[in-house]
Order: sequence, then C-alpha cells, then structure tokens
Amino acid sequence: MSARVLCAGRLYCDVVFTGSPRLPTLGTEVFAEGLSLHAGGGAFITGATLSALGDHASQLSVLPAAPFDAPVLAQLKAQNVSSKLCAAAPKGSDPQITVAIPCGNDRAFLTRAPGAALPSVDVAELAGFSHLHIGELGTLEEVPGLLDLAREAEMTVSLDCGWQDKFSVEAATLIEKVDVFLPNQRELEALMSVGVPELCASLTVVKNGENGARAITRGQSIWLQERSKPVPMVDATGAGDAFNGGFVSQWLKGASLEACLRQGNFCGAASVQSAGGVGGLSSLSSLELAETIPQ
Ligand SMILES: Nc1ncnc2c1ncn2[C@@H]1O[C@H](COP(=O)(O)OP(=O)(O)OP(=O)(O)O)[C@@H](O)[C@H]1O
Ligand SMILES: [Mg+2]
Repeated sequence: MSARVLCAGRLYCDVVFTGSPRLPTLGTEVFAEGLSLHAGGGAFITGATLSALGDHASQLSVLPAAPFDAPVLAQLKAQNVSSKLCAAAPKGSDPQITVAIPCGNDRAFLTRAPGAALPSVDVAELAGFSHLHIGELGTLEEVPGLLDLAREAEMTVSLDCGWQDKFSVEAATLIEKVDVFLPNQRELEALMSVGVPELCASLTVVKNGENGARAITRGQSIWLQERSKPVPMVDATGAGDAFNGGFVSQWLKGASLEACLRQGNFCGAASVQSAGGVGGLSSLSSLELAETIPQ
C-alpha cells in the first residue's frame, strides 16, 4: 500500500553552472558552458524519491521568491510532488537560491536562505497524511511545534539532520521525539561531540557514503549494517535524501530493518550515479526494486 507523506523543509532553486573550467577566484571571471535551474533541498529530493517509489508525496515549504518559483513548481509537478501546501515567499524577500558550481569531482555552493522555511499549517491541513518527513534539523529547530501538530494528526515522523556549523545539545529534546532520525556519520559525530546521545531517537539510521548505512534502535539494541554496492560515482549531491526516501518508503510498509536499509542504499546508489538531486530517479522503477530487494 502506498503512503501519503508530507515533506517539510527548505525549498531552493538550485542554479547550476556546468562545464566550469575552474572555480572563480577574487578578481577573475570564469565562463561556464551551461546553466540550468532545478528544485533543490532535502525535503524535495526525499519527496521525489518517495513518489518515484509509488508513494504520495507533498511538499510543505515557502517557495523561492519570483521568478525562481516557476521553475521550482514545474519540477515539483514533473516529479509528482504536490505543491498544494506550499506558500509564496513574502513580498520583497530575496529568492531562496543555491548557486552550484560543479568542478572536477566536487562542487562549490553559495546559498541564500532568507526568512521562514515553512508556511504556517494547522492540524486540519494534515488530515490524510500518515507520515511527516522533515528535511533538516534546522527547520525543526525553527518550527518545533511541528512535532506536536504531527502527533495530533496521528502521523509518524522522520527527520534528516543536515550539516550545521554549530550543533547544540538542546537538539536532543527534538530528536528524541521522532520515530526515525537519519543523520550521516559526520553529522552524528558532531551531535555527539556536543552531548547529544547516539541513541536519541527510537530508531537512528546513519548514512556513511560508499560504506552504506547502519540502523540502531533505542531499547532493543539492534545494530544492523548494510553495505552499499560499489557503483561509479558521478555526483553525490542529494544521495542522503534519496536514501531517506527509499528507507522511509519501506519502513512505512512495515518492512524489516534490513529491507529498509537495502532500499535506502539502492536509492542512494542510484542518486550518486547521475548529476543533480533527482537525476537518478528514473532508474527506480518498481520492477527493478522488486527484483533487487529481497523483503
Ligand atoms: N559512492 C557510493 N557508492 C554507493 N552508494 C553510495 C555512495 N555514496 C553514497 N551512497 C549511498 O547514499 C547514501 C547516502 O550517502 P551519504 O552518506 O553521502 O549521505 P549524505 O552525506 O547525507 O548525503 P547528502 O549530500 O545528500 O547530504 C549512503 O548511505 C549510500 O547508501
Ligand atoms: Mg545529508
């Protein structure tokens, strides 16, 4: 059965310059070969992955200010992610944009994240959703009441971490309330270094690049590691968010932790093999998944 998932988080217009011979330096100009606009941000990539897997995904975000809202809305539509609960940016705000410059095997980013990540939402608008995925801890810290609202609407909750230059131990009081917490290894270590316990949420899933991911449950002490299949790496952007979509989709079906990790790894590996956050989704047909993932 497919789930109805609300994905909340910052929604960017990614402005991607391709074919740049080098990164710009002060006092010089670099000419790129191409330029494209994409919807970006963890919540969108996870929602698009869930939708590609057959679940129903809706986005809860403030849109980037015009004219950058149009290409973002077009891409949400193309990926079958509903924008019904999205709201326009307040008049006069800067557009929420990430400029990305891929160069060699890496990328440089420059981001402007103005104003609120989420529009206000009430419990009546959450009716019909069974799960809330929050794209980054920073958004939950901005709107902590979202957790109570989700519980009132009887939704389960998953949360990605996302990198922050400064984590705080107070984050533990939010993380402990979610059902599934999905940091990467570096984020988990940074949280633990400020005093957040490793087993804070009831289920913690730690993503670790080509090493795959592990799941640790609070209380029962189940510790499971699933390795990722070696694949040619094209672009790692959004692999963690694609992993979230794969993992959560199986978790919502009540699958075993092994099956959840395996589908997460499958989606993460598909993502790193193509450029951009949602470039790998076309390879996620349910037929391929059914053949690849033993339940
Ligand atoms: N080189 C790789 N080969 C195969 N699978 C990979 C590779 N890199 C990442 N993955 C898959 O993608 C998942 C997420 O990757 P990673 O640990 O880089 O997450 P992340 O750092 O949160 O990514 P993001 O940049 O989206 O925040 C991994 O757990 C794994 O399943
Ligand atoms: Mg991540």
